[in-house]
Amino acid sequence: MKILVINGPNINMLGIREPGIYGNQKYQDLLAVIEKWANELGCEVECFQSNYEGAIIDEIQKAYGNFDGIVINPAAYTHTSIAILDALKAVGLPAVEVHISDVTKREDFRQISYVGMACEEHIIGKGFDGYKLAMEYLCEKYN
Ligand code: DQA
Repeated sequence: MKILVINGPNINMLGIREPGIYGNQKYQDLLAVIEKWANELGCEVECFQSNYEGAIIDEIQKAYGNFDGIVINPAAYTHTSIAILDALKAVGLPAVEVHISDVTKREDFRQISYVGMACEEHIIGKGFDGYKLAMEYLCEKYN
C-alpha cells in the first residue's frame, strides 16, 4: 500500500501561522509523525507540499499508476479549486480529505469544499491525528 500525502498552501508555515487555530507544531513535525504512522501501519508514504495549484495537480496526475491512495489537505484550495477536484476525479484513486482545524465552525467561505467532492472520506478538526485517521482508513479498506 503506497499513500501519497498532499498538503496545500501555507501548510509549510505550521508552527508559525495562526497557532491558536493550527497549533504550535511545525510542518517538519507533521512529516515525522506521518512517517512513524506509516511504519506502524506497514504502508509506504510519500509527502508533498506546495503553495501552487498547478504543482498539486501535477503531483496528483503523477500518482496515477504509482500510488494506491491519496490523503489531501488542499488548504485554501479546498474552497476554490475545481481543477484539483477534476485532477482527483481524473486519476480515480481513493482519496481522503483532511483539515487540521474544524472548518465547519469557521467562516462562511470555508463551508464549501470542491476538492472534498472527489474524496470518499472527510476528517475535519482532529489536528495532526486527522492524517493518521485518513491513512488508517485507506490501509484498512484497500490494503
Ligand atoms: C485547512 C483549512 C482551510 O480552510 C485553510 O485555508 C487552511 C488549512 C486546515 O487544515 O484546517 O489553509 O485546510
